[in-house]
Amino acid sequence: MYLDPVQSFEPLRSRCAPIRPLRVGMIGIGTVGAGTFRVLARNQADIAGRAGRAIEMVIVAARNLARAAGIVGEGIELTDDPLRVAMHPDVDVVVEVAGGTGPARDWVLAAIAHGKHVVTANKALLAVHGTEIFAAARQHGVAVAYEAAVAVSIPIIKALREGLAANRIEWVAGIINGTTNFILSKMRDEGLDFAAALAQAQALGYAESDPSFDIEGIDAAHKLTLLAANAFGMPLHFADVQIEGIAALQGLDVACAEQLGFRIKLLGVARRREDGVELRVQPALVPATHLMAHVNGSMNGIMVKADAAGVTMYYGAGAGSEQTGSAVIADLVDVARLDGTRAAQRVPHLGFHADAMNGLPVLPRAAVCTPHYLRVPVHGAGQVEAVAAWLASEKLPVRQVALAADRPAMGAQVLVLTGPVVQSALDRAVRMLQAHPMVAGAVTTLRVEELAG
Ligand code: HSE
Repeated sequence: MYLDPVQSFEPLRSRCAPIRPLRVGMIGIGTVGAGTFRVLARNQADIAGRAGRAIEMVIVAARNLARAAGIVGEGIELTDDPLRVAMHPDVDVVVEVAGGTGPARDWVLAAIAHGKHVVTANKALLAVHGTEIFAAARQHGVAVAYEAAVAVSIPIIKALREGLAANRIEWVAGIINGTTNFILSKMRDEGLDFAAALAQAQALGYAESDPSFDIEGIDAAHKLTLLAANAFGMPLHFADVQIEGIAALQGLDVACAEQLGFRIKLLGVARRREDGVELRVQPALVPATHLMAHVNGSMNGIMVKADAAGVTMYYGAGAGSEQTGSAVIADLVDVARLDGTRAAQRVPHLGFHADAMNGLPVLPRAAVCTPHYLRVPVHGAGQVEAVAAWLASEKLPVRQVALAADRPAMGAQVLVLTGPVVQSALDRAVRMLQAHPMVAGAVTTLRVEELAG
């Protein structure tokens, strides 16, 4: 066989030539951007050793240029125009850490249209506009990486997309919002009510000054949307997630759950069933002996149940400057390795190739089936048997009926743990119970998640 001497040496020459740095443009330089800079500077030799090339910051867009200058140091262009970063001819990859879903969508789509890879920590952007963004990225052959968008220090996207690629995933469930976990931990440990615990979270900088995305469960729903797509190969379904936050949760229920051997956690749950997927964020009772019940303070914990690997669990900080920077840089290392490869050879954006995504429907709330906790205010301690008898007459599966520990200011409360019951049946039963003369106030219901392997 004849080998052209020039051509046959070409691959060898390119293997030996030093690869030029991956050139990065960053949009936004708040807490996450600053953490990314610090970690990149501190660990540059290790990072380049892993990436196979240096990672070089070229340009940063910031609202406050004076503040940004103090973070980025010399030799990096600063601009107040994010689109300049998105379209910059010397940039290979745009890191979007500004947040929001309006302008950020335009910047990311502009970067993609100009052939840039994108790394983002913006879960709201991807949960809401991800379908459009990933389609554009496929069209232009670029990567969109987002490990920092979900439970930052936990490499859960990599675990689902790559580590568990052999498995049929049955469910993913976890504590994926640090602010609400801090609040719930305070309510349990110190007996604080919701408002007092939220004030502490705000004072410590965990909660945003407008904490509604955290406490209403929306931030967790954004993350759950991304987890479910990667776990099950389904499209992004943020609008279909059933979302309940913790603002209405009473300290009394935290204490009553404790009495029954449970702790209340804000859980994101994505569960595959024969007929579709349950996608929900809600405060739920978790057995106090379960590992998930011991994920406290602002930490995150995620469990995955997979058919071959079994149950795996991941624990780590869900927020923080360098913690998020760590995930952003891990994505930059991936991009440094994949840049120049054929798109078809890369890990797909949502774990499954676009033509292999399924049409699994999201099940309506009425179809969700779990055990439940009920707290039933009654006219006196003697009503426990009456409540138990009524539940039996309605054929509700009941595991336990107990009188709540005496709290004089609260009046008598009957606590009930049911077996698995479909939400529509539970709602009907609770409506009837509420109207019964033995009931003295609003019946409270919460889901129970056993998270059994
Ligand atoms: N507000 C989020 C949390 C920050 O509390 O988890 C990271 O997404």
